Amino acid sequence: MTEPVTTTEITTSPATDAVVRIDGLSKSFDGRLVLDDVHLEVGRGRIVSVIGQSGGGKTTLMRCVNLLERPDKGMVEVAGEVVHQGGRTVCRDLARLRRTVGMVFQRFHLFPHLTAVENVVLAQRKAGIPEQEALERAVALLRRVNVAHRALAQPEQLSGGEQQRVAIARALALKPEVLLFDEPTSSLDPEATREVLSVMRELAADGMTMLLVTHELPFAREVADHVVFVDGGRIVEAGRPEDVLDNPAQDRTREFLASYGTAS
Ligand SMILES: Nc1ncnc2c1ncn2[C@@H]1O[C@H](COP(=O)(O)OP(=O)(O)O)[C@@H](O)[C@H]1O
Ligand SMILES: [Mg+2]
Repeated sequence: MTEPVTTTEITTSPATDAVVRIDGLSKSFDGRLVLDDVHLEVGRGRIVSVIGQSGGGKTTLMRCVNLLERPDKGMVEVAGEVVHQGGRTVCRDLARLRRTVGMVFQRFHLFPHLTAVENVVLAQRKAGIPEQEALERAVALLRRVNVAHRALAQPEQLSGGEQQRVAIARALALKPEVLLFDEPTSSLDPEATREVLSVMRELAADGMTMLLVTHELPFAREVADHVVFVDGGRIVEAGRPEDVLDNPAQDRTREFLASYGTAS
């Protein structure tokens, strides 16, 4: 078998303006290596989709970008600033890092006692944005994700698809330079999945930089500039969607894709 490749190696025109750059990143939990020498770059306005089996390290990789997890080795750079290096956090302003890097989770993580609009306002209030401006922006963002008519509903009154769209509005509220999506449609039914993917497609068309983990391979094929296959904590293969998904170079990628059967 040939050596695994990295995105940095296969990018034909390296993004000079990378919003996220990860170099030689390793991470262990309880002495078990879950990320092993990972290199990854997300250029401004680019969409990188991470695929791979459960337990492969995808979520941990995403969480290393905003330092919800601290890598043991390697370098993480966000928006031109090294935030973690050699096992040490060098970012002096974690709150600012988390505004630069928005995150959307599989299970929404909205505050259950707040309405949709309050959820979007709260994130901004914490960042010191004046109340009136925060409210106006929240309403505009709820409109943008097609859920403004549900602004006064609480999460339990919303469908999964509506909750996830509110979560996307909340992530957008702090004007992030990159959005991370960790399996945003995995807990949704097919119709809600379509709604959320449609919002993500619009963000992509607007030039939003995104790093996403998804099992929606047709969506990854359609919107991603790069697809990265992660397995056992390593990047096994990375490249253009049509190469990785339709003509993979590695046996392991082929096996993974075959496990999707006709679904992809
Ligand atoms: N906080 C943690 N403590 C211990 N083990 C963890 C922790 N987070 C993740 N892991 C383990 O790391 C491995 C990779 O997990 P994860 O990044 O969630 O993979 P994926 O998102 O690809 O399913 C798994 O074996 C998981 O059990
Ligand atoms: Mg995961």
